[in-house]
Amino acid sequence: MRYSIKAGSPEKISADCVVVPIWNKGTLSEEAKQIDVAANKAISKILQSGDLVGKLGETQLIHNPVGVAAKRVLLVGAGDKKKLNGKAAAKMLGAALKVSRKSQAGAVHFALNSLAVTDRDSAWLAARLSQEAEIASYQYDTTKSKKAKAYATKSVSITALPGSRRKNLEAGLKRGQAIGKAVNRARELGNLPGNVCTPSYLAQQATSLADRNRSVTTQVLSEKQMARLGMGSLLSVGTGSAEESKLIVMRYKGAKVESKPYAIVGKGITFDTGGISLKPGGAMDEMKFDMCGAASVVATMGAVAELKLPINVVGVVAAAENMPSSRATKPGDIVTSMSGKTIEVLNTDAEGRLVLCDALTYVEKFKPRSVIDIATLTGAAVATFGSHANALLSNNDKLAEILIDCGEEVLDRAWQLPLWDDYQSLLNSNFADIANIGGPRAGTITAACFLSRFTEKQKWAHLDIAGSAWHSGAQKGATGRPVSLLVEYLSRQKA
Ligand code: BES
Ligand code: MN
Ligand code: ZN
Repeated sequence: MRYSIKAGSPEKISADCVVVPIWNKGTLSEEAKQIDVAANKAISKILQSGDLVGKLGETQLIHNPVGVAAKRVLLVGAGDKKKLNGKAAAKMLGAALKVSRKSQAGAVHFALNSLAVTDRDSAWLAARLSQEAEIASYQYDTTKSKKAKAYATKSVSITALPGSRRKNLEAGLKRGQAIGKAVNRARELGNLPGNVCTPSYLAQQATSLADRNRSVTTQVLSEKQMARLGMGSLLSVGTGSAEESKLIVMRYKGAKVESKPYAIVGKGITFDTGGISLKPGGAMDEMKFDMCGAASVVATMGAVAELKLPINVVGVVAAAENMPSSRATKPGDIVTSMSGKTIEVLNTDAEGRLVLCDALTYVEKFKPRSVIDIATLTGAAVATFGSHANALLSNNDKLAEILIDCGEEVLDRAWQLPLWDDYQSLLNSNFADIANIGGPRAGTITAACFLSRFTEKQKWAHLDIAGSAWHSGAQKGATGRPVSLLVEYLSRQKA
């Protein structure tokens, strides 16, 4: 997709489709008025008919309007002018793009000069437009024999917005495009089936990212190399699988070598059967999404490189397949983590924390300024937050606050749960230093408590994305969350 800024009043813009907003109660926006005058009151007539009232996200397509240069005019409801915040604006853009995607319009122009978003600036709006356009253009067809019809829209433009420099809008468009592409990359990795997207496949993807970007280097540790480092916990998860576990280490260099990096660590269980503590059969297919944390890390590294952020970032993926077999780890088995702590594996389905703890110990060697892990870790996070919030737990309230703010800004929201010491004793074990489960209650918190035992020396936050990473049901598919949150966080950091 190409993005640009176009000057000119909406009726004179030559495009296949011009999008103009309508406020609620059928109030014409400035752009809609200009078109209405040129087009012989075509819009007023529609509003009089009552077919469109300007409700947020409502749409109406007009073909071949007289007196207008564009082939189509798309009216989009913008709702209450005083309530058009960032979230509402994103919904409006998404609704317009959904219609233009179905049409055959190759060049779509958004005439939004008069639009003021209450709590965001125009560069944000430009970024959101390109991000939404990228996301709207993604359709999964990799493993279908009939390929999806190519998306007709090839270019999206926006009118120069008031009070904003062209340069800022252009930067916004670039930024949103990079984020949107990264979100799609994460979605694609998530959507691929477990027999394609294996730990080795993830490693290949990370390696090819480094091949495409000079600023990124990727190192893949084999099981043998991990054994030498003492990663008995991570390795215990993959012992039942024919697929080799991998520790994937991606390093992005955007600042001086000695500048301490920011670390992101992803759970990459490419399929989670539960192991010997086998999961029930219903919807088990969705456990191919158990590597969405890893996908968000790989995709974020790509966006960081594309945006040339002036910092260093290290992205680590702990990849394994959790299978039952005669070699699989059994309940009651005790493993020794890289940190030296011993772990009693009371439930082999609590495997995410087992791979993450060694990856978190491993990143200590980079002396990161902050560490964020991203994991589809607990069913309890789905029960608590549904699909709207990323669960956030941290040993540093300042870091948590920043992440909440970043999520708010990019509409990829996170909400904090307590990481109080009171919960730690639930992980006591009679036979090892720590148990890998904390019982049936407060599952998201006890999972984070487990991880906190391995991040004591670090400024660390944990995002449990079990509810936000994919949709179930008819719309089944990966969402690409929390890529935009991670990119926002990293964009705000300094070397
Ligand atoms: N990958 C799952 C978590 C999950 C379950 C995500 C359902 C989304 C939907 C994780 O490995 C897991 O199985 N967690 C267990 C932990 C329990 C055994 C302590 C869970 O949440 O049930
Ligand atoms: Mn599990
Ligand atoms: Zn899992």
